Amino acid sequence: QTIENGHFQWSVPSNIALVKYWGKKDNQIPANPSVSFTLNNCKTITKLSFDKKQNTGNFSFDLLFEGKPKEDFKPKIQKFFERIEIYLPFLKEYHFTIDTENTFPHSSGIASSASGMAALAMNLMSLEKALNPVMSEDYFYQKASLLARLGSGSACRSVKGQMVVWGNQTNIKGSSDLFGVEFPYAVHENFKNYQDTILLVDKGEKQVSSTVGHDLMHNHPFAERRFAQAHENLDELISIFENGNLEEFIKIVESEALTLHAMMMTSMPYYILMKPNTLEIINTIWKFRNETQIPVCFTLDAGANVHVLYPNKDKEKILQFIKDELVDFCQNGQYLCDEIGNGAIQI
Ligand code: PMV
Repeated sequence: QTIENGHFQWSVPSNIALVKYWGKKDNQIPANPSVSFTLNNCKTITKLSFDKKQNTGNFSFDLLFEGKPKEDFKPKIQKFFERIEIYLPFLKEYHFTIDTENTFPHSSGIASSASGMAALAMNLMSLEKALNPVMSEDYFYQKASLLARLGSGSACRSVKGQMVVWGNQTNIKGSSDLFGVEFPYAVHENFKNYQDTILLVDKGEKQVSSTVGHDLMHNHPFAERRFAQAHENLDELISIFENGNLEEFIKIVESEALTLHAMMMTSMPYYILMKPNTLEIINTIWKFRNETQIPVCFTLDAGANVHVLYPNKDKEKILQFIKDELVDFCQNGQYLCDEIGNGAIQI
């Protein structure tokens, strides 16, 4: 099949890890398995237009971010194309225009690499499928996740499913270091429509890029113990997802967040990515949880923002709590309401 030109468009959400991916080997192979909730509202929408070209010597693409050319993202895309060319041999035969935007505010401190790389991967897979129509749906999503992983590791968890495991864990059927898989076992209804309200504490540029961050785990004094711990935590989560024990869920999720930051604080060089308001928020959540027994908890990415996680049934009370007690710790009072979603959709 040959195709001269056309376009595809995908909307792809971000995700938030419960067991964190931190540390990797060559080829974006994770040092430990991770599991995430797929988000619903924080998304990247990417339109990929393609035109067959004569000269097939180089990758050729333009990048538009919110409608305007964006040169500084181009090296990352160039590197991505180089990595995935062996899987998509047609890449040099087309000129691409990548037209992308996020639903969350620009430079909100929310990383868009997961949703952005996954959105590009979905579009490229659509072209691959148009060129090779005989392809199962499973293969389509699996390969899309594999490609997304090569763009940004955590992006492979944004493709399909509400809870996604990435990284080989012997007791999770189908799990792989190469792509994310939908969590394959029973999930208790306590986790249905689980909520994630993202408190924007610091919208500044990241102090440490995730590439540098993952590298800090090489020769890290606690690396091996940490990688083993991630396996143990994921193992415990399998039963917690099934039995719905939110108290145990909270222990693992908060410990994972603090461990991620502990790894950064104990690496060489060392970093503190939390801000005073991050700690204020954590302490306020703990106090509220003690007083009300409502199972609200936090998690963190490699930054100062706080993800507040809670069951859907407690939404009203928690949103009120956030307005009353947490908004003042957010930069310009900003926060984003999100919840578990299903993954990428073609639009
Ligand atoms: O996907 P990367 O390389 O940007 O790494 C992301 C790492 C964390 O967000 C800190 C944790 C995770 O598992 O998403």
